[in-house]
Amino acid sequence: MHPSPAEAPRDPEASRDPEAPRDPEASRDPEAPRDAEASRGGIPEEARGSPELAADADSGSAPGPTPAFDFWRAIYERRSIRRFKSDPVPRELVTQVLHAGIWAPSSCNYQMWDFVVVDDPAVNARLAALSTQMGNAPVNVIVSYGRDFSEDAWANIQSASAAIENMSLAAHVLGLGTFWITQTGDKEKVREVVGLPEDRLVVAVLALGYPANPPRSGPKRRPLERVAHWNHYAGKPIPGSPDPEDWDADSLAVYQRARVLNGLRHNKPRAWEVSALETALDALVPDGREPAADPASAPRWLDVLPCTGIVTERLAKLRPGLRFDVVERTSEVADFVAARVRPRAATYGWPRASAEFAAPPDAAYDVVSCVYRLENLRASERAELVADMARWLKPGGTLFLAFVNARSFHDLAEWARARRGGLGGVEYVLAPDPSIGPFRSLRSSDVEGFARSAHLRASGSVGLHAAPPREEIDFRARNSSARARSFAQFASSIARAAEIVPGARSSRGRFQFRAYTR
Ligand SMILES: Cc1cc2nc3c(=O)[nH]c(=O)nc-3n(C[C@H](O)[C@H](O)[C@H](O)COP(=O)(O)O)c2cc1C
Repeated sequence: MHPSPAEAPRDPEASRDPEAPRDPEASRDPEAPRDAEASRGGIPEEARGSPELAADADSGSAPGPTPAFDFWRAIYERRSIRRFKSDPVPRELVTQVLHAGIWAPSSCNYQMWDFVVVDDPAVNARLAALSTQMGNAPVNVIVSYGRDFSEDAWANIQSASAAIENMSLAAHVLGLGTFWITQTGDKEKVREVVGLPEDRLVVAVLALGYPANPPRSGPKRRPLERVAHWNHYAGKPIPGSPDPEDWDADSLAVYQRARVLNGLRHNKPRAWEVSALETALDALVPDGREPAADPASAPRWLDVLPCTGIVTERLAKLRPGLRFDVVERTSEVADFVAARVRPRAATYGWPRASAEFAAPPDAAYDVVSCVYRLENLRASERAELVADMARWLKPGGTLFLAFVNARSFHDLAEWARARRGGLGGVEYVLAPDPSIGPFRSLRSSDVEGFARSAHLRASGSVGLHAAPPREEIDFRARNSSARARSFAQFASSIARAAEIVPGARSSRGRFQFRAYTR
């Protein structure tokens, strides 16, 4: 692409077809004073088009042996490797990988990439201190690009990315593994650790090494017929909106399946969320703490829309006296969650069921739970799900509901985050972690209304966190200035003091838990 418009008047490239063949010498004024140029460290006053080809320019021969490898196998078999052997990688091999990188296309053929290969364990340890992701491989390649080049349409990032992909494929062919890291922590600190000048933008880091336990198959891809269109787009995109009203059930199913199968399952719930859940469970579902003598005849628990299964796994550990089943939107997600509990859970489908993925049996469960999942649904679907959950309960059984209270600091925090220019869109909504789709907090009165319509009777209620706990503030403010952090801690300590006001937690607590019986 082209240089940014701001630079256009000075830049002869701007009026030029970027794809036209060029002669670097053609635009040079042979009379131009070379001395002045030398005094500027060789930087010409006027841009002269693409960088000059020096005598040692690379003409494209691989610097080492190129093993025969089927092109299509390289495309389909390359995997992100997140665990590496500690064996060092010979520099000749690394060089060959880098060389494949410089033969990627780049915007205007500027080739303003610079790679810093870190194979010194001491320097890698400093990188790992910035992000643990850089602590896995014996080699980290810091991929940078000229910050002010090709900014238009992010062509600098696109060019660096093309180089990264070339390197990833070359590494695979050479028997190495790579891992494309964007979660590098503060990229400016990465730049400083490896001594890159300020005008280099760190785009990503490519971890490189010999794979330990490479995955046999990759995470599934969205099907081509959904992704590719001929002449005119005719698809249904996954919404980026955090508002459940913008989502239909199928889009949510596709989105959650992709998130779970692609790695969300590895997330850990936050400690303050887990302890709130445990407190509520002890109050509302106290039985079943002892392991069942005969799991086959143990009371049964259905966890509804568990998605990652992180909470299901926790519930099953806390209540080993019950046998867990799960109901999910897709069989892949249901199967994934089922394998997180012992004995393996039976799996059911909602809202679509089929012969192979049936709806849960009616009146079969002693406990049905739904933890922060009504919030993902459209308003019209919430009452429907509560009615279905009531049907799945045995008479006398307990429906255990957890939801985020709209009349709490939650919505205020979300609003403040958006105002501060925080990342928007469905990926970043403030919800109990991990966030797995659109999310709208609920009013207690709405939940009570759903329960009444489903002929459920309230049997218990717990509200917690009328103010954010100290550890949550520390976590959320971790990237803010020290002043902002202490202000946030101060404000929340005042709010926490107000928690002793009778009824503060039950009416204003962020986390609300309800038990209903049928
Ligand atoms: C731009 C980009 C950034 C990525 N950043 C990360 C990352 O920070 N952490 C991570 O675990 N994986 C990261 N990945 C790897 C993807 O998760 C991975 O490519 C994807 O799940 C597909 O798996 P596969 O590479 O094995 O085919 C990144 C990939 C790309 C293209």
